[in-house]
Amino acid sequence: MADTFLWGAATSAHQVEGHNIHNDWWAWEKAQTRRPQSGAATDHYHRFREDFALAKSLGHTAHRLSLEWSRFEYNENSWSHKAVAHYREVLQELRRLKLTSFVTLHHFTNPQWIAQKGGWENPRVVHYFERYVRKVVDELGELVDFWVTINEPMVYALQGYWNKKWPPQVHSLTRLNRVINNLASAHTSAYHVIHKVFPEAKVGLAQSAIAYEGAHAKHSLDIHAVAFKGWLYNHRFFSLTPRTHDYIGLNYYFGKHEHAQLFPPRLSSQPMPGVVSDLNWPSHPAGLTNLLLEFKRYKAPLYILENGLADANDSRRADYLRQHIRAVEAAQEKGADVRGYFHWSLLDNFEWAEGFTPRFGLVEVDYKTLARRPRVSAYVYKAIIEQAKV
Ligand code: BGC
Repeated sequence: MADTFLWGAATSAHQVEGHNIHNDWWAWEKAQTRRPQSGAATDHYHRFREDFALAKSLGHTAHRLSLEWSRFEYNENSWSHKAVAHYREVLQELRRLKLTSFVTLHHFTNPQWIAQKGGWENPRVVHYFERYVRKVVDELGELVDFWVTINEPMVYALQGYWNKKWPPQVHSLTRLNRVINNLASAHTSAYHVIHKVFPEAKVGLAQSAIAYEGAHAKHSLDIHAVAFKGWLYNHRFFSLTPRTHDYIGLNYYFGKHEHAQLFPPRLSSQPMPGVVSDLNWPSHPAGLTNLLLEFKRYKAPLYILENGLADANDSRRADYLRQHIRAVEAAQEKGADVRGYFHWSLLDNFEWAEGFTPRFGLVEVDYKTLARRPRVSAYVYKAIIEQAKV
């Protein structure tokens, strides 16, 4: 690994900050008491200094976080000075600790007033997002090292407009496509807004990538199914946003087996066999190597912006880390220009519809006292980082 390779961990605002009372997730959580409630989450909003100090002490050289749009513009046209001042302190703290910042502008949550106007189905959202990005660029831009416009646009769109798992729990192909197109326009306009002020800025997004493989390796229909799914899920968003990626950001968790049959016509996905996490996600490190080689086609530096597993008793995380970092090295040996790795997550956090049960943190959070305690795997990661430097 080169000396300049960035090592870090990632978080997102709603999952760790606590009390994001002006966003659509908060409203959704409150609409039904039996849903998990994010509440104070890990109180990262007040404890960011302690958390960054931990990341630094664990050997990290970079950190990925997200800004909460609903803190900036909590009502239409009502902008918060407090939000600007807060995130300036956050980013200045990263600078002080010499942690390279990756700043996500949209990580699944929207101001509630945007949701009330139809959210990402309303084409006006592109204008609202652009206005928010301009504000962030003007107020905080010089403190940002890497920009991540949108986290996992395909996941966001599918979970909210196809799978009915996340707000607004819709199932409609037309509406799904509308959302994907608006997200693509929003990314494109954010890219240009940032570059106008900072021509040298490094702007990209975090694409969720799945390693698809044929259920039967030599079955030609399965091979077509893999190509189709790979295009649809992994690459379509890039084809909608050409020439707006200074780097390629990938979030990688697992692989899937794809199977296609003609009579009756059917496409099916199976989880791969292998070690599974507490969420039953299989671990498939070789899939990461393959994806990195596949994404070389965009001819831009590659960063893994998320990779991790839910593992409450920390019995599998250390192996998972070792294997996935080895998978990155394997891709580098074959010519993939990979320049950074971010583990998901620095802290245990609010795992969306699953609530606080899945534990993704390198650092364990005691939700009663909010005390932090690095897990053994956090030290294994530290040792990997140190070894990579020699
Ligand atoms: C998301 C995170 C989430 C993680 C684990 C990613 O899809 O960006 O917000 O916590 O996966 O589910």
